[in-house]
Amino acid sequence: MTAPRDTAAQERDATGSGVSREGRILEMVARGTSLSHVLDSLCRLVEEQTAGVLASILLLEGDRLRHGAAPSLPKAYTDAIDGAVIGPTAGSCGTAAYHAQQVIVADIALDPLWADYRELALPHGLRACWSTPIFSSDGAVIATFAMYFRAPRRPSPHDQHIVEQITQLAGIAIQRKLDEDKLRESEDQRKRAEEALHRVQAELAHVTRLTTLGQLAASIAHEVNQPLAAIVADANASLNWLAAAEPELERVRETLTAIATDGHRAADVIQRIRQLATKTEPRKARLDVDDVLRDVVALVRAEVARYEITLALDSAPSLPSVVGDRVQLQQVVLNLVMNAIEAMAPVTSRPRRLVIRSERHDDDGVRVAVHDTGVGIGASELDRVFGAFFTTKPGGMGMGLSISRSIIEAHGGRLWAAPNAPHGAVVQFSLPGA
Ligand SMILES: Nc1ncnc2c1ncn2[C@@H]1O[C@H](COP(=O)(O)OP(=O)(O)OP(=O)(O)O)[C@@H](O)[C@H]1O
Ligand SMILES: [Mg+2]
Repeated sequence: MTAPRDTAAQERDATGSGVSREGRILEMVARGTSLSHVLDSLCRLVEEQTAGVLASILLLEGDRLRHGAAPSLPKAYTDAIDGAVIGPTAGSCGTAAYHAQQVIVADIALDPLWADYRELALPHGLRACWSTPIFSSDGAVIATFAMYFRAPRRPSPHDQHIVEQITQLAGIAIQRKLDEDKLRESEDQRKRAEEALHRVQAELAHVTRLTTLGQLAASIAHEVNQPLAAIVADANASLNWLAAAEPELERVRETLTAIATDGHRAADVIQRIRQLATKTEPRKARLDVDDVLRDVVALVRAEVARYEITLALDSAPSLPSVVGDRVQLQQVVLNLVMNAIEAMAPVTSRPRRLVIRSERHDDDGVRVAVHDTGVGIGASELDRVFGAFFTTKPGGMGMGLSISRSIIEAHGGRLWAAPNAPHGAVVQFSLPGA
């Protein structure tokens, strides 16, 4: 593939035009070869074309010149000038960068521009140095290209022609590197912004979870107190049976079983609250959506009873599992159920019915729909309700649906609202299968 081109290039080289070498260097730039490699090749290209020259490219960083390439200059010298500050009398390169103009020093030993650098250059036998600024696409100096000689010398028109070519090529290569750096930086910034956004979202989700739990506090307390009261009553009854002349052991045994069941019930609710209230990093795992639905139903049972709502959990058999964060999905379902309860609270003219239905969605996904017979959502609001801070409730934050949607979308699913027939609303989400 490359062989024919190389042969052609060699033929052109033989004509002495140097064009093919330039072409190759541009190709290196296009292929993304490292900048130091490209600049090195440029210097060597110059050195092949002009006898006795030592080429150097320095990169401008702020007000300092940094080593770019100088394959033939002594390392001790390039090390010594690496980091030199540019200025009106800073050798050939520092001055050229400072004035954004070519600086021709025909004899380093005599030129006042080299007053501070002479002692560095002369011991290495460097006597002439012509430096030309390299510009970015928007006209700023980004580097310098220098030709050094071991004897005093002024540039010929041919030398100037080479300078022109090389500064142009080097400009393209360096500009590309700068563009890449900028792109990478903006990519980094975008990533950081995204991470920050995720953190804020998680933080917000946690706060709103706590708020919802706060709203539920009375109901939840009832939900825990009820089994505790039953335990106390059962325990007292058992004590009486044991105190009888002939202890009724069979009844005591039955009651102890009931006590254990009630104890588990109370512990269960507390465990679910703790899950929702604890701040944890979102953690995705394979799970059954129906377990999430049962978690939420356990938390809102008392709230449902308080508003005399009939609740039905209607699960399709053998649903596929999904991959998700259990707490986050609980939060979504809890938000939808709380909205449904709140929408039905003012309704007095018809039964308040809450149906939570899980179904298969597409081939391997799951859909959860929360149906209510509440006040409903107007056609023009069906999408607006998902906006942050959109609320029609005196104490509402208007964050429930907006957070729920971002959680569901982060799970690769969708969340949307529709009217329920004949009254109320259906708010539902789909999740892809595991
Ligand atoms: N099931 C529903 N029936 C009728 N209206 C609803 C229903 N769900 C949501 N809405 C409307 O959408 C609005 C936004 O709901 P969202 O859950 O985002 O906020 P909120 O419930 O007002 O406050 P919070 O941040 O405490 O949840 C509600 O104020 C309500 O007007
Ligand atoms: Mg809400």
